[in-house]
Amino acid sequence: MRIVLLGAPGAGKGTQAKMLIEKYKIPQISTGDILRKAVADGTPLGKEAKSHMDSGGLVPDSVVIGLVKDRLAQDDCKAGYILDGFPRTTPQAEELDTVLSAMNSPLNVALSVDVDKDDLMKRLTGRRTCKGCQQMYNMYFSPPGKEGTCDKCGGELFQRDDDKEATIKNRLDVYEKSTAPLIDYYGKKGILKSVDGTGSIDEIFTKVVSILES
Ligand code: AP5
Repeated sequence: MRIVLLGAPGAGKGTQAKMLIEKYKIPQISTGDILRKAVADGTPLGKEAKSHMDSGGLVPDSVVIGLVKDRLAQDDCKAGYILDGFPRTTPQAEELDTVLSAMNSPLNVALSVDVDKDDLMKRLTGRRTCKGCQQMYNMYFSPPGKEGTCDKCGGELFQRDDDKEATIKNRLDVYEKSTAPLIDYYGKKGILKSVDGTGSIDEIFTKVVSILES
């Protein structure tokens, strides 16, 4: 199964992707995670990406497209994958189509996770992630048992640098301008599906699976 997850920042793409990789045993390719690791490791890519990410803007297409091309060529993508946070612009979507068409393996579905703006704000300002195992929590909706500590592995929880209110506003604006047009793009290709992303994480997952298997 070759899946693109679409949706605004905070819609729950990463949360659902992590559940899908368990169920379908295919990798999640999150450009956000790849870029955050590069920033943390201080690589040249990370140095280039950091200022764009800190302001809530997009990393240049040429950089991100190169990353994804390399990742798709790896063996574990042969049985499928979940693209999370890519593509994010029309040029990225067009380039992805070109690459996949050359591999003779087009996308099966682009699934849009829809959540309204007020909920997105709470999800993003409340998000905390474990430094150790990457488990996600939310201070409003799914807090850990002990503040600042991961229930699963006891690791320390942190808040993403771009989850500050002013940056979130810019990320949501950038989403509307650059990424929301992809809903039409995939609609015209006949592979767009949508899921209401409000409700419990498990309820949404049940709906996602039923959409993917229909
Ligand atoms: P990226 O990491 O992709 O961030 P994003 O798209 O803004 O998405 P998020 O990770 O913020 O949200 P999500 O939808 O995954 O939600 P999550 O599951 O975490 O990108 C970061 C930056 O990298 C970009 O701004 C850009 O600079 C750069 N970048 C990345 N890709 C790029 C590209 N292709 N091109 C150019 N630049 C790129 O959930 C959020 C919170 O809500 C969590 O706390 C979670 O626990 C909670 N939650 C989830 N589901 C529910 C629910 N059903 N009910 C209540 N709470 C819920």
